[in-house]
Amino acid sequence: MDGLRVLLIISGGVAAYKSLDLIRRLQERGFTVTCVLTEAAQQFVTPLSVAALCGGRVHTDLFAPEAALSHITLSREADVVVVAPATANTLARMAAGLADDLATAVLLASDKPVLVAPAMNPAMWAASATRENVERLEARGVHRVGPECGDMACGETGAGRMADVSRIVDAVGDLLAASASGGSRPLAGRTVLVTAGPTHEPIDPVRFIANRSSGRQGQAIAVALARLGADVTLVHGPGSPASLPSVRVVPVTTALSMLEACEAALPVDVAVCAAAVADWRIELPAGQKIKKPEDGGAAGLSLSLVPNPDILARLSRPGPGRPDLVVGFAAETRDVIENAVRKRARKGCDWILANDVSDQGNRGQGSPFGHALNTIHFITPSGHEDWPTMSKEEVAGMLANRIVDALETSSTLRRSLP
Ligand code: CTP
Repeated sequence: MDGLRVLLIISGGVAAYKSLDLIRRLQERGFTVTCVLTEAAQQFVTPLSVAALCGGRVHTDLFAPEAALSHITLSREADVVVVAPATANTLARMAAGLADDLATAVLLASDKPVLVAPAMNPAMWAASATRENVERLEARGVHRVGPECGDMACGETGAGRMADVSRIVDAVGDLLAASASGGSRPLAGRTVLVTAGPTHEPIDPVRFIANRSSGRQGQAIAVALARLGADVTLVHGPGSPASLPSVRVVPVTTALSMLEACEAALPVDVAVCAAAVADWRIELPAGQKIKKPEDGGAAGLSLSLVPNPDILARLSRPGPGRPDLVVGFAAETRDVIENAVRKRARKGCDWILANDVSDQGNRGQGSPFGHALNTIHFITPSGHEDWPTMSKEEVAGMLANRIVDALETSSTLRRSLP
């Protein structure tokens, strides 16, 4: 990415202070950064501090005498235009095609990829005016990263926080890589939820029930879909990666917290449930560590288990909020295809990727748990395919391509579902 030029437009929100860090992080990745500050942005960060970071390349005024036609020059000289933070007002002005200040004039004149990182109060993000503006911009090919859920500077909680700076930098890299390779981003504008990893169900403050899932397959799927342009939320059980390129990672612990995080991520176009969710949890986890009898006796311990909600089945429920495509996994130790076909029908999902997790699974190479390879039987309403034994990244790539095909013909897909 050395020598590539980012034009960073900073608009006026509290998150503007993070743009200073963004400038540094982009420079560390080898980008040359030029900045445009809106008038409102200058209430949050000064042109002087921005100029100090980006070697004086900062612009604020459309009508500065020395800056005649600077909006054209700036947009031509950039390889990518990033708007971070993108306030509700800036998104609205972009959607309306206004050009009444330097930032909007540059954006209207731009012939380069544009990436926006929205940041605003959750109610402003949820407002139908903002939703319509964002949809309009995405339909015109504007790329988006975030916003993320969390506590806001205004004291409220919800979706509206600017994407983490590292995610924005990754998204810029992905965008430039895609445009350099001529690669398309067929999932741009699509939202995807992926679950991955195990869940831990507490017995007492120090013990829990767990399973052998590493989460690698789900992580690979999240990355593959993000690379194709999807806006991906990865809800990950214990052992979640700190960050993945262009993926919003939501770490959770128990099945109940995984369900809650999935529901918070809705609505989405596609859901892929790759997590190994514990089927049961302890009915009443002990508040204190359970002690052995002090007389050294060998008393056993009985645990009362209650079923956990089935997240895949919940996401697959018919109704207006159902994702267009719901994909599950089936970990089986025998009669893999028969069990997976029944599981697909029982849970109501569209596809199932079944794998043999027995010691003889993976075409004799052993259980795919913690293994780099995976052998998938791809179950759809119309039958099944046996995929070759592949790396988890290759499985992810294959699934991502199937998802692209299905969404492109989604009306056909919906009609074919039972
Ligand atoms: N799954 C889920 N929530 C659960 C259990 C499973 O979302 N509480 C999802 C998994 O993410 C996977 C699919 O359901 O996509 C199948 O998981 P699997 O463990 O194979 O099946 P189970 O439903 O647990 O059924 P069984 O253990 O009886 O095979």
